[in-house]
Amino acid sequence: MSVSSRDAPYPELKKTHTMAHVGRPFTDYKPPAAAPVWAVIEGLGRYHVLLAALELGVFEALDEAPDGTGVTAVELAGRLELPPLHLESLLDSVVALDLLDRVVDGFRLNDAARRYLLVDGAASMAGLIPVAPGPHENWTRLADTVRSGRPATPIDDDPAAFYVPLVEGTFTTMWRCAGRADFKMRYSAMAAPRILDLGAGGAPWSIAMLQACAGGRATVNDLDGVIDVARRETAEHGVADRCEFRPGDFHTVPLEDGAYDIVVLGHVCRTEGPDGARHLVERAYAALRPEGRVVVADYFIGPNHKTNPHAVLMGMTMMASTACGFGVTNTEATGWLSDAGFEALRLIEPIGFQFAYVASKPRSPRSGSGGSSKRAK
Ligand SMILES: C[S@@+](CC[C@H](N)C(=O)[O-])C[C@H]1O[C@@H](n2cnc3c(N)ncnc32)[C@H](O)[C@@H]1O
Repeated sequence: MSVSSRDAPYPELKKTHTMAHVGRPFTDYKPPAAAPVWAVIEGLGRYHVLLAALELGVFEALDEAPDGTGVTAVELAGRLELPPLHLESLLDSVVALDLLDRVVDGFRLNDAARRYLLVDGAASMAGLIPVAPGPHENWTRLADTVRSGRPATPIDDDPAAFYVPLVEGTFTTMWRCAGRADFKMRYSAMAAPRILDLGAGGAPWSIAMLQACAGGRATVNDLDGVIDVARRETAEHGVADRCEFRPGDFHTVPLEDGAYDIVVLGHVCRTEGPDGARHLVERAYAALRPEGRVVVADYFIGPNHKTNPHAVLMGMTMMASTACGFGVTNTEATGWLSDAGFEALRLIEPIGFQFAYVASKPRSPRSGSGGSSKRAK
């Protein structure tokens, strides 16, 4: 009779093959749970449940309902002109995601839904959720991307379509992050800093710094078609008159040497891949005056890739949907900064889960620093 390689029906019998006898781990006693596999399978469903609820206007409709016992699925179905059983099923799934509450038959918004899922929520992600993963078809063709080294539909082909809703959706969080960063880097102590914001999006960093420094001025860069978001946000926050908008590719847009007190690279390295990110760090170094500081904000991957899965998956999102993007490890980021000539590297976490390296250009830059890597794109 052949020996089966499948699990023994009575795992206890495997004791003779465990660590004590042959050095194999004790998990042999008991098979591992399938829960991590199910969590992955259900990930697709979870995302689409939320997308459908947003598309159908569930959260806005619940917000309009009177506070109290909540709204039944039948009432809500009447209001939204949807079949009640289907809607109830969807609502229960959103409850299972902990993004709605159900008390008896009444559905109502919880605090997370109010803050993140209402279009006018305090930190609304309603516009961000559909676009944040990048073009959805790229995920279904991920194996092809790994095979060929290029996504089917890179966002580089139409950057504005991806980045405009993205930077609108992330603005509030990044602006709060940039404002809180002052507690760690005291940019508000500078009377009239010159700021350079490369790939600024809605310019959350420039806005926070200009609001804190009455005499500050910012050069705000982004691609044509995206830079209008910065124009709008800076105007809405009352600082547009202190901004110079400089549209163009941040790898080639002309920059003054030794002119800036702060250069911001906010969540741009992850889209560029190692060569492109290194090049941006070098451009930042050249643009700074001695003792000027660079801010490199990103989701940095630690040495144990499990401890910050969000960073790993944000990197994967870039690999799945950009021509060059990859996750950024702490080792890579500090390497680019040190190689460029920066010193006094510090990692700050202005708000939860938002990290940034702050580093200084030396008072007397060492000769040969500033780098001149050739960027492969
Ligand atoms: C993830 S967003 C970050 C926006 C902003 N810095 C922030 O921290 O919220 C990346 C930004 O980089 C811009 N970007 C991407 N490639 C660029 C390029 N080659 N030149 C200039 N900007 C670029 C995008 O348009 C987008 O606004």
